[in-house]
Amino acid sequence: MESLQHNLPRPWALSLAACAISIIAIARVFTPPAALRHLPKVPILPLLWSYFRGEVEDVRIKRLIVPFANERNEGVVLVYAFGRWIVHVLDHKIARDLSADIATWPKEVPPDDMLLWRFVGRTNVILANGKSWQRHSRVVKSALDRNVPIADFVGLGYKLFNVMGEGGRLLWDDLTMRFTLDAVGTTTFGHDFNAIADVNSPFVRKYNGVMDGIASPLYIIFPKLERWVPRPKVIAKIDEMVLLFTHLLEEKKQNAGNDMLTYMLEDPEMSDTEFRDNMVVFFIAGHDTTAGAMSSLVYYLARNPDMQVRAREEVLSAMGQKDPTLENMRQMPFTQACIREALRINTPITYMVPRSSPRPTLMSGSNGKTYALPANTSVILNICAIHYNDSYWPDPYQFNPERFFGKTEKDQTRVDASLWLPFALGPRQCPARNFAMYELRTLASMLLQRWEWTLPNDSPHSKAPQNGFSPFALSLPKNMDVVFKKRE
Ligand code: HEM
Repeated sequence: MESLQHNLPRPWALSLAACAISIIAIARVFTPPAALRHLPKVPILPLLWSYFRGEVEDVRIKRLIVPFANERNEGVVLVYAFGRWIVHVLDHKIARDLSADIATWPKEVPPDDMLLWRFVGRTNVILANGKSWQRHSRVVKSALDRNVPIADFVGLGYKLFNVMGEGGRLLWDDLTMRFTLDAVGTTTFGHDFNAIADVNSPFVRKYNGVMDGIASPLYIIFPKLERWVPRPKVIAKIDEMVLLFTHLLEEKKQNAGNDMLTYMLEDPEMSDTEFRDNMVVFFIAGHDTTAGAMSSLVYYLARNPDMQVRAREEVLSAMGQKDPTLENMRQMPFTQACIREALRINTPITYMVPRSSPRPTLMSGSNGKTYALPANTSVILNICAIHYNDSYWPDPYQFNPERFFGKTEKDQTRVDASLWLPFALGPRQCPARNFAMYELRTLASMLLQRWEWTLPNDSPHSKAPQNGFSPFALSLPKNMDVVFKKRE
């Protein structure tokens, strides 16, 4: 008995062993796989700390990732996120090569656990690859190309101004979100969500509830938690929202209109699930992004009053007191450059959906370095990092619309198309870039025509726009009050 006790490990030895095993397990989780260890890597501790304190995406990228491009001249860097190591592309040439070759670089199948995909569905243009993507893309593009609904945007602009009343201090990011939501609703689904007029719009409340639920930081960092500690209330909300879209689809089948969904429904090959999943994609992809761009534009014109005056003079000279049209908006190159610069400096989508190649690949950067990647490596094109690369964009923190001008203001081709990436590039770039740019141009010209604006003295955004926390690579100004004054 005595010798048995003597042979048993002491409690302190057991604790030590448990500690050692835990450290090894944690180190294994946070160490990149051997085949990736030759790549530069963002140190894990500052990264985890950044996730745990909920640092917003663009700030984390500028602080921890951009220095790899600007100070170390690297074209890629490894970043730990969503429970794995991902290669972020920081070089514009690699970005262009990767985006052009969609056969080698299909989009990754997203992890099963993330609730976002329960909402978005899996049979849609944004997730499909190969032949299936071609089919979705054809339907989506032909619906988008049918018309540019400028008159609808103008009508919604007036609705917005009505709600803005006599002006004063207004929560601008909320108003832009309501505007773009109604823009997507009317032009895409032929359905008025009434988000601009009704501050308590039940649809907006439900949607925000779903997105807040999906976006819980802990579940984003450890998606497997959805399996271990499921969230039935969030799931119920998502399912209710998906059902709303199903009802909208049924309604549309009975009442065809002059909207994109009606055009899409003309395609006999699509199933109802595919239509519905594409509706959700249009809805999500189509409103937050444009709202963020509109908030950033107004913000930078508030911070740069001389540019606001210059853009207003241009707008008034092109359209006087009339409404914006396709023709008169062509006479506003400076305003267009301001929009492009706002989309660069606070790009709404900070990075793209991960891609991975089933084969080992070599990536050659414009920096002369070549990076070898094993098969099935997750790769993300980091738009924000490319927009802050100081060798492509001198003084990247400076709002400078003139960087887009060629020899004349009208010739905005000075910038290489592979450097300005808010809508991505290659065959899978945003199919709605024209739609979004006209939406932005219409509202911007109407605003400049009728309002002047400044930031309040106590604005938390006085030095830089403060974006909200978003797990879906979105960088959108949050809680941004702007003081509007009606023009005589
Ligand atoms: C300023 C506004 C917008 C920005 C910055 C933007 C940006 C982007 C980006 C970067 C992508 C590529 C994502 C990836 O491949 O990982 C994308 C794709 C997409 N966007 Fe947009 N977008 C905007 C507005 C819109 C609007 C208004 C709609 C619809 C009405 C829309 C629909 C889509 C769709 C369907 C795709 C998927 C295309 C595909 O995978 O083939 N976007 N967008």
